[in-house]
Amino acid sequence: MVLQAIKYARGQLEILDQLKLPHTEEYDHVYSSTDAWHAIKVMRTRGAPAIAIVAALGLAVELENMKLPSIAEDVKVFIDEKLTYLVTSRPTAVNLADAARKLRKITDEAAIKAEANGVDVKNAYIKAAEQMLVDDVRDNEAIGEHGAEWILKNTEAGQKGQVSVLTHCNTGSLATAGYGTALGVIRSLHSKQSLKHAFCTETRPYNQGSRLTAFELVHDEIPATLITDSMAAALLRLKGPTEHIAAIVVGADRVAANGDTANKIGTYSLAIIAKYHGVKFLVAAPRTTIDLSTKSGKDIVIEERPGKEITLIKGPRHDGVSLDLNVVETVSIAANGIGVWNPAFDVTPAELVDGIITEVGVVEKDSDGVFHLDQIFSGEDHT
Ligand code: MRU
Repeated sequence: MVLQAIKYARGQLEILDQLKLPHTEEYDHVYSSTDAWHAIKVMRTRGAPAIAIVAALGLAVELENMKLPSIAEDVKVFIDEKLTYLVTSRPTAVNLADAARKLRKITDEAAIKAEANGVDVKNAYIKAAEQMLVDDVRDNEAIGEHGAEWILKNTEAGQKGQVSVLTHCNTGSLATAGYGTALGVIRSLHSKQSLKHAFCTETRPYNQGSRLTAFELVHDEIPATLITDSMAAALLRLKGPTEHIAAIVVGADRVAANGDTANKIGTYSLAIIAKYHGVKFLVAAPRTTIDLSTKSGKDIVIEERPGKEITLIKGPRHDGVSLDLNVVETVSIAANGIGVWNPAFDVTPAELVDGIITEVGVVEKDSDGVFHLDQIFSGEDHT
């Protein structure tokens, strides 16, 4: 069975509640842009592409089920205001802002057509939002293929036919419309029988690795091992038959024009240890994550989340022998009164990144160490 974080049919949207994973698989209805905003804010849905798609489809469902104004301009203004609101849900991932920009353009064009009415504008919006769901899966499959090929060609283990890789956070079916980006590369290596072993970090504090990536790896029966974030450097020293990491592959929330990459907190440390150990460090992301209007990582706003995500931990009761899924407990794991800093993301400088895997190929630096990301948008509207 294929893992699905987003279930959509026209007028209906359900999301897998990621706060309850891995122990409980429960879908929640999203009826409106307000529902979508809250689901994104509290991270019932998360991951840069999934955030954009849930926001876009949340508004599509609202439009489909509401009594619409008949005047095209009124519907356009309504959509515009809702998109502005949705973009405020989480600041770092750029995919939602990118989706909002594209959806706005499409509704603007629909509204100025001669004799356009409210339904025409609504239909244009819904069609475009639905297409985003389809495009994301297609793009992820292409990312998986390009990334797998690159690793097999550019690493010593890859040239011998099989690689072990390390990933961080969750970038799979749960973070996208399906298949995933960095986890898509792992899926693709696995499907080619070229994956020896996948390692995933726990990804403190929200544990996207241990709760979500591990869940996906187990679900797909991919040979995999979980480590805590602090074990990554020790792992990279190992040269065992399985524990010999050829590449670290991560996703991204925003890639600046110069290749600086904002991704889940801890990514930067992984890039540093990759460089020290001579391990390839790759960012896998669709072009919707690349933001040419952000010149460098210095311009990326890093979301800070509540301190209780670090000091408290939640899960089903465990009596030492078995889990009781009916009782969810919250336990404090820090000294009361301690101050907390909880940035959700960090920025990895482009100089530590060996390649950016996109749906149109892997972008590498030129001989001066510069990424030319604008070249993968040639002929496309990126205004
Ligand atoms: O805070 P999250 O869980 O939304 O952060 C997710 C990540 O950092 C992912 O690595 C990134 O969004 C890429 S998902 C394909």
